[in-house]
Amino acid sequence: MIIENMSAEHLSSVLKIEEESFSNGWSEQSFCDELKKENSYKFVAVENDEVLGYCVLETVLDEGNLLDIAVSQKHRRKGIAKKLFEKMFEVAYSKKLSFITLEVRESSIPAISLYKALGFETVAVRKNYYSKPTENAVLMTKYFNL
Ligand SMILES: CC(C)(COP(=O)(O)OP(=O)(O)OC[C@H]1O[C@@H](n2cnc3c(N)ncnc32)[C@H](O)[C@@H]1OP(=O)(O)O)[C@@H](O)C(=O)NCCC(=O)NCCS
Repeated sequence: MIIENMSAEHLSSVLKIEEESFSNGWSEQSFCDELKKENSYKFVAVENDEVLGYCVLETVLDEGNLLDIAVSQKHRRKGIAKKLFEKMFEVAYSKKLSFITLEVRESSIPAISLYKALGFETVAVRKNYYSKPTENAVLMTKYFNL
C-alpha cells in the first residue's frame, strides 16, 4: 500500500467511501474545491490501483485542521488510517505546525479510539453540532512540541 497525493482521478472511489462512511458527507464539488486549495493536504491510500482510504488536512499559519478521513469499510482495522496520519504528521513537522485539531461525532468510537491512540486529547464538546442525526461533536487536538 502506498500513500500518495489525491487527484481528480481518485475522486469517484473517494466519493464511494465518503458515502458509505457518512450520513451527510462531502459532495464531489467539495472535493473538487479542496483539490484546488494550496493550503490543504489531500492524501489517498492506494493498493493495486484501488483507493482504500483518504484524508484532508487544512493548514492555516501554524494550525492544522483535519477536515475529513475515512477508510473503505472492507479494509478497516488494517492500519490504513494510521498510515494516513503518519503522512499528516510528516506535514505537521515539515510545516512546523503547533497542533492538529479535529471534530468527531460523540458516537464514533472507532475514530475516537484511533485519535486517542495517536495522541489526540479531548479539548471541548460542541453541543448538537452535527445533523442527520443531531449529535454533539468532540473537539480533539494533538500538540507538536517543536
Ligand atoms: C475511523 C477510521 C478512519 C479508522 O480507520 P482504520 O483504517 O480502520 O483504522 P486503523 O486500522 O489505522 O486503526 C488504528 C487504531 O485505531 C483504533 N481503532 C480503529 N478502529 C477501531 C475500532 N473499530 N474499535 C476500537 N478501536 C479502533 C485502534 O487503536 C487501532 O489500532 P489496533 O488495530 O492496533 O488496535 C474508520 O473506522 C472509518 O473510516 N470510519 C468511518 C468514517 C469516520 O468516522 N471518520 C472519522 C470522522 S471524524
